[in-house]
Amino acid sequence: MTRELVGTSLKMNFTATEARAYFQALVPLVADIDDRDLFVLPPFTALWVAREELAGTAIAWGAQDVHESISGAHTGDISAPMLVDLGCRFVEVGHSERHRDHGEGDRQIARKVATGVHCGLEVIVCVGERVAMPTSTARAVVLRHLGAILGAIRPDELARVVVAYEPYWAIGAGASVASGEHVSAIHLAVRDYLVRLGCAAPRVIYGGSVDFDTCRELLAQPGVDGLFVGRAALDPVEFARIAHARVRPLDLEADAQSGGLLSSTTPSPSVR
Ligand code: PGA
Repeated sequence: MTRELVGTSLKMNFTATEARAYFQALVPLVADIDDRDLFVLPPFTALWVAREELAGTAIAWGAQDVHESISGAHTGDISAPMLVDLGCRFVEVGHSERHRDHGEGDRQIARKVATGVHCGLEVIVCVGERVAMPTSTARAVVLRHLGAILGAIRPDELARVVVAYEPYWAIGAGASVASGEHVSAIHLAVRDYLVRLGCAAPRVIYGGSVDFDTCRELLAQPGVDGLFVGRAALDPVEFARIAHARVRPLDLEADAQSGGLLSSTTPSPSVR
């Protein structure tokens, strides 16, 4: 069975100094988790801090983007070997905010995936419909994008790809999470697609307005292999609560009896 993957992108939040405080708060809160893979994607400027603070812990780290070329005249960009050198396990590509802010499209995302997996990174590819639409239409849209992005990736390299289903309309302040039914239908279709491409153990995680209140229902959906958390995880206590969330009834009971998983006195760095 695939290990569940629960992670966050800090997006353009936290200086390197603030990121250190965030990691120092988070590490002890999740130190007991050994049945799930956890990751944090800080800004590029805090990757070296992630390496210092997270090496030897249960939390992997990675970047929020990567250039499609290995090196060269690309002022201001960051290459996959640079990320590998900083100990990154993951890199995210294709996030909707990269599309919104930088106009990235499927062809460029496909090149980034190819470069990332070639360099040994695990690539989290975000894909999702841009506006709300019926599930069957959304499924077709997502599979079309995925075909353009992953169609040329070799089966052995697909093992290093994680698909993050992230409907654009469910992301960010003011948005609301997609329904469990919708998420499950898309995830199962994506899994099928990955299997057809030759991927032995597909990993499909969901992102878009995930918080502690919604995470268990999402994790319980068939086809959901984990969660990609945004705003809610800027608070390390909240991220740790989500990372601990389990869907088995026994855990729910134990959780309720103990009055919650974490003490409210846990320090947290400033969060925006
Ligand atoms: P959000 O972000 O949880 O703040 O909606 C999710 C994402 O961008 O992956």
